[in-house]
Amino acid sequence: MAEENPIEKILNMPGNCLMTRRQFLKGMGAATSTILLSDIFLHPLLGRAALVTQDYPRKKIGGLSLLKNDQPLEFLYPDESAHAICFLVKLGERAHGGVGPQEDIVAFSNLCTHQGGLMRGLYDAQYKVAGPCPLHLTTFDLTRHGMVVSGHATEGLPQIVLEVEGDDIYATGVQGLIYGQASNVSA
Ligand code: FES
Repeated sequence: MAEENPIEKILNMPGNCLMTRRQFLKGMGAATSTILLSDIFLHPLLGRAALVTQDYPRKKIGGLSLLKNDQPLEFLYPDESAHAICFLVKLGERAHGGVGPQEDIVAFSNLCTHQGGLMRGLYDAQYKVAGPCPLHLTTFDLTRHGMVVSGHATEGLPQIVLEVEGDDIYATGVQGLIYGQASNVSA
């Protein structure tokens, strides 16, 4: 029997806290005030840039020879949790923080920084952006460190720091705070 993709496994787990658009719309009416209050009172650190230096793992996430322009690959980083769903993409044009011979390979968290909307499958090859987010339509520019182009989010999409060694691509850190985390790496 084929082994289940680790990211699908996380998304199918009971109690998974990531929201699809369908789940969001279903619970939207009743949950709106709760979400707003919890943003303000319960999670003061969420959505803000990490202010401390953290020790990140070095993890091999792909190979230069395996990447094709505009075809994102998913991976988990910096741990194996539901908040660690990321994507790696070769944009075909130079990007800030890009690696590889054309400096066009970048990686980002797949969770929108506004309220954690899952950005899977929302890479737009024409404009080199991720989005619009299925929940409130934020779009992030992948050539400029994931900065917000439009929408409700005020923080850019956390960018995964990459290094290349031979043909191997490694994730070595995260710039920005991943949605839902008080710290990207547990102490
Ligand atoms: S969760 Fe993405 S724009 Fe609100």
